Amino acid sequence: MARLLHIEASPRGSESFSARIAAAFVDEYRHSHPQDEVEQLRLFEHALPEFDAEAAAQKMQHISLLMRGEPGVAPVGKWAGVITEIERLKAADKVLISTPMWNFSLPYRLKHYLDVILQPGLTFYVNRRGEYVGKMGGKPLQLIIASGSAYAPGFPRADGGTKTDFLQAYLEHVARWMDFGDIRVIRVQPTAHPVPGEVTALLQGRIEEARAAARSF
Ligand SMILES: Cc1cc2nc3c(=O)[nH]c(=O)nc-3n(C[C@H](O)[C@H](O)[C@H](O)COP(=O)(O)O)c2cc1C
Repeated sequence: MARLLHIEASPRGSESFSARIAAAFVDEYRHSHPQDEVEQLRLFEHALPEFDAEAAAQKMQHISLLMRGEPGVAPVGKWAGVITEIERLKAADKVLISTPMWNFSLPYRLKHYLDVILQPGLTFYVNRRGEYVGKMGGKPLQLIIASGSAYAPGFPRADGGTKTDFLQAYLEHVARWMDFGDIRVIRVQPTAHPVPGEVTALLQGRIEEARAAARSF
């Protein structure tokens, strides 16, 4: 039995392109992996620990302790919530993140989640040569990304001076940093399609792509 964690970063529910494609992915995954468990984390409904002055101070204390060869901060106060989220992520064998693009980048709740779980000694560490080493053990990650406009792959890439996609590049970067081994991407774009009717065909095509991806995930 394996565990799939689905992190949903659109607040738009049944209107959301990324969420509807992710729902098809999860539905097909359940059918093709009937022995597996699926957990859903809806970031706009879930109370993450605030990463405020207390949490930042605990993170700095944690780093100091690690550098002295000690185990790190105890799970109290804000750090207890940090550890809870990291344990949820580590308990997953496979991860699905569905997200919209907001202002060329990620929605603030997904950034909040990443600020919570990206912790030294827990999701990555720095070795004696000063290199980052991830602690996700090469587990697979499926990204489902929706954007109103279409973006060419690659980074950095500017289109007309303003259309640069920081979202996919950033998510892939932190995923590699944490040592996700097999990073797959489904893009649905442009969801603000200028041709009426084309959006329905676009969505249907990506739903089929997601179902096929789920079977081999
Ligand atoms: C706050 C906000 C910011 C957005 N910024 C962008 C953007 O920078 N580029 C873009 O192509 N679309 C942008 N959009 C459009 C969304 O990416 C698009 O509606 C997408 O379908 C949202 O994903 P969802 O349907 O899964 O919620 C933005 C939408 C919102 C609500």
